[in-house]
Amino acid sequence: MTTPTQILVIGGGQSAEHEVSLESAASVEAALRRRGYAVESITIGRDGRWQRGDAERDDTAPGGRVVDTLAAALPAIARADVVFPAVHGALGEDGTLAALCALAHTPIVGSGVRAGAIGMDKWATKLVAEAVGIRTAPGRLVHARALAAVAFDGDAVVKPVGGGSSHGVALVRDAIGLDAALRAAALHDDRILLEQPVVGREIDVAVLREADGSRWAAPPLEIHADGLFDTATKYDGSARFSVPAVVSETERAAVTEAALRMFDALDCAGVARVDFFLTDDGPVLNEINTMPGMTAASQVPRMFAAAGVPYDELLARLVDAAAVPVRDRRCAPATPTPGGAG
Ligand SMILES: Nc1ncnc2c1ncn2[C@@H]1O[C@H](COP(=O)(O)OP(=O)(O)O)[C@@H](O)[C@H]1O
Ligand SMILES: [Mg+2]
Repeated sequence: MTTPTQILVIGGGQSAEHEVSLESAASVEAALRRRGYAVESITIGRDGRWQRGDAERDDTAPGGRVVDTLAAALPAIARADVVFPAVHGALGEDGTLAALCALAHTPIVGSGVRAGAIGMDKWATKLVAEAVGIRTAPGRLVHARALAAVAFDGDAVVKPVGGGSSHGVALVRDAIGLDAALRAAALHDDRILLEQPVVGREIDVAVLREADGSRWAAPPLEIHADGLFDTATKYDGSARFSVPAVVSETERAAVTEAALRMFDALDCAGVARVDFFLTDDGPVLNEINTMPGMTAASQVPRMFAAAGVPYDELLARLVDAAAVPVRDRRCAPATPTPGGAG
């Protein structure tokens, strides 16, 4: 009998998506256990303290310094064959957990540092998308320290550059609304994006990188939101999805092609959810999520279920893909330059 693969699932985190992440982590952990993996779990509290197990940290307990709790968690990262960082948002999905695991030489499920960091930055995502020929909403970047200088110049969607779960996102139609929206967005990030509102259907595409390195997209999903797909609608059970989305073959091909191009441009791994507005003139990229919601009822698992890959199987494929040893570049010997000092 072979020893089961040891997985460490990390959930929680310090962003506004802490709660959602706990749900993703709990679902992932249960599914991996069903598949026979040996699973350990760690919860990062809202305050940044690391705690073994999936229980919410008791905030009343006298805690040590954050760094001490992190140090205590490192052996779990070291003994894991694979880490599943189910932490959405800042200080998780943005590449920070990928960086920690890379330094520890422990493979992770999902994207590495670079794809996580760029994907979490809605401004950088826009620049990359435009560079590879994918349209995005025209927008401008403002800094929280210069909000007083921002004038209203038409309807805009205001959002924190590094946000998630629609926290701090608002549609503004006048100067008073703009002021309030900027202040709300500034609670989440120092950099704020003002975007032209896009009129289109919200269509999301999930892409999976398999263990053999190939990647493919599941059938797109449509979100039926009345206006902004806001935080309340996302999590109060009232969100309506169509999986697969009812789109023409041309539209399906266009969003799928754009999703794969974006996945490749960032060199994502694991799963990513690439979100579009489908307009009369074709797809406009909204954002890319490199650690999307991962409960069985979340969008990505539903899209793969529609493609014939059930939830538990999806998670097993993610673990298999993570466990493939990446080409080891760390110790590559320098190629000698003929006749030169190189
Ligand atoms: N430029 C835009 N035009 C129209 N609606 C938008 C625009 N940007 C965002 N939205 C709406 O706001 C929601 C949340 O914005 P998004 O950029 O996806 O932030 P988050 O990372 O918090 O999900 C989107 O799902 C969409 O409904
Ligand atoms: Mg979104």
